[in-house]
Amino acid sequence: MTYKIAVLPGEGIGEDVAPESIKVLKELPIDFEFVHGDIGYETYQKSGIALPDKTVELVKNSDSALFGAVTTPPNIPGYKSPIVTLRKRLNLYANVRPCKTFPTSISREGIDIIVVRENTEGLYSGIERVEDGGNRVITERVFTKTGCERIIRYGLELAKKNGRKKATFVHKANVMRETCGMFLRMSQEISKEYPEIEYDERIVDAMTMQLIKNPEIFDVIITTNMFGDILSDECSMLVGGLGLAYSGNIGDNNFGVYEPVHGSAPKYAGKNVANATAMILAAKFMLQNLGEVKYAKIIEDSVLKTISEGKTTKDLGGTLSTTDMTDVIIGNMRTLLNKG
Ligand code: NAI
Ligand code: MG
Repeated sequence: MTYKIAVLPGEGIGEDVAPESIKVLKELPIDFEFVHGDIGYETYQKSGIALPDKTVELVKNSDSALFGAVTTPPNIPGYKSPIVTLRKRLNLYANVRPCKTFPTSISREGIDIIVVRENTEGLYSGIERVEDGGNRVITERVFTKTGCERIIRYGLELAKKNGRKKATFVHKANVMRETCGMFLRMSQEISKEYPEIEYDERIVDAMTMQLIKNPEIFDVIITTNMFGDILSDECSMLVGGLGLAYSGNIGDNNFGVYEPVHGSAPKYAGKNVANATAMILAAKFMLQNLGEVKYAKIIEDSVLKTISEGKTTKDLGGTLSTTDMTDVIIGNMRTLLNKG
């Protein structure tokens, strides 16, 4: 079979790193059809729209999508981040970020966390208003039972499938009694269906401290949109930061759009210096979820070997360019593929 993959490089270093992940995928004995889609501020400047319907259709009609990064322009009234819009339009309700210790000195040891964040509602529902002549501004925090249930089940199923031991639910139900209260009660109830997974709950502020103090005690973290946004960035920094952090936006039938966590880093754009590892690992994560676990592992092992030998871009202390680092990763892949 051939996998149809929508490739949305976006702009800035998105255009530097996306091609590197394609190079890596092309090394594998798997058939891919890669189809380019436009997205971002440059697309908006050309056509007046940051996320053309054509791109949404392309992604919908693909087996998976890879997204690079976009620039959010300053102060254009009504401009919405096209990746946020894409996640919503395709109902990609789970944002999943694996954070595992990397073999580099900037990574803390003994960490293997997966953050599962609700991706469509909560404080990022986009419902805001201005009242009293601008004196009062309001952002609504919307939770639904459907939204809570599907993210809780998604996280617990992911934990079960991956043989994970513990699920930590993060909330602030002591203050936000309705929204977080519902999320917490449903977490407690639904977790009873998963006796093999240890139930754990934490209040978000204490959680941020615990993550710094004892990150190794956490396994799967399941939480709401904004808390997940913050905690997943915190977890990423524990294991190596923006050059390495990757995530998947996943909806029904395990359909996903995969991306590095970083943005378009304009000052590095087009200079062949950005670290493409996060993008390459996003492609690895995509393969894993497509069921190509063996080849996902070959990419991962090749990346880890490359990093452990210090053959990296500057952000990780090395001296290589973007493309040179990919070449080393591909060299390692070839060795593993020949062995296998
Ligand atoms: P950023 O992630 O683009 O860059 C922050 C800094 O991190 C960079 O200046 C660079 O020092 C480092 N960095 C990030 N990725 C790197 C990589 N692959 N290799 C080496 N170093 C890397 O965040 P920033 O500067 O806050 O935002 C720049 C633009 O990106 C903004 O317009 C912002 O809105 C957008 N953005 C887009 C995201 C997305 O498309 N998902 C996510 C975050 C920001
Ligand atoms: Mg974030």
